[in-house]
Amino acid sequence: MPFTPDSELDLLFPAELISLEVKNQLHQDVHVRPLAATDYRRGHLDVLSVLTVVTDPGEEAWVAQFHAMRALPLTYYMIVMVDKNTDVIIGVGTVFIERKFLRGLGSVGHIEDIAVDKKQQGKKLGLRIIQVLTGLSENSGCYKTILNCSNDNIPFYQKCGYVQKENEMAKYAPKEHVQSPRL
Ligand SMILES: CC(C)(COP(=O)(O)OP(=O)(O)OC[C@H]1O[C@@H](n2cnc3c(N)ncnc32)[C@H](O)[C@@H]1OP(=O)(O)O)[C@@H](O)C(=O)NCCC(=O)NCCS
Repeated sequence: MPFTPDSELDLLFPAELISLEVKNQLHQDVHVRPLAATDYRRGHLDVLSVLTVVTDPGEEAWVAQFHAMRALPLTYYMIVMVDKNTDVIIGVGTVFIERKFLRGLGSVGHIEDIAVDKKQQGKKLGLRIIQVLTGLSENSGCYKTILNCSNDNIPFYQKCGYVQKENEMAKYAPKEHVQSPRL
């Protein structure tokens, strides 16, 4: 597929919010932009499957989820790295902004779902994704940006400038209680 420029896409948030400094450090064959409404067809879920088991909801439900996220302004920032030669997605990442009553009505950026296509790993794409997401978080006024990761990935996040802090706790709901949110 030929490369699709941002001007022809329906994007999750304005592309101008992405750091130019990081954009300029990418290889000329790689483009970073917000998630687009048609990215289901560019392999968005294939890249996420590098991270965990992905259940494909089908394109219609995927697009409905995209619009549900966009309906919450200034909250969801999902980015993708695209191979300009193929128009296929090779890296993904999300930061969502949590508003608080603490810290003078402050906000916290939560980084989630970072994945780079297996064949593209080791080329600093992961680092650039984290730099873009951290920039989006800080430009949203967040006083900190946080994430959870496996022990194996601690050195990667340290290379991205993150430090280890506290612990993660989790409680999974019984399967029969888990429902998709109404779109
Ligand atoms: C983790 C992941 C996002 C890293 O992306 P990547 O593009 O391969 O990493 P980069 O090339 O940007 O690496 C940046 C630096 O971190 C280092 N690094 C990356 N992963 C590492 C790891 N697991 N252990 C140690 N160092 C690591 C790289 O060597 C590089 O170091 P350098 O600057 O000294 O050369 C990618 O491997 C991936 O998608 N993994 C599977 C999904 C996953 O685990 N996601 C994270 C969920 S928390």
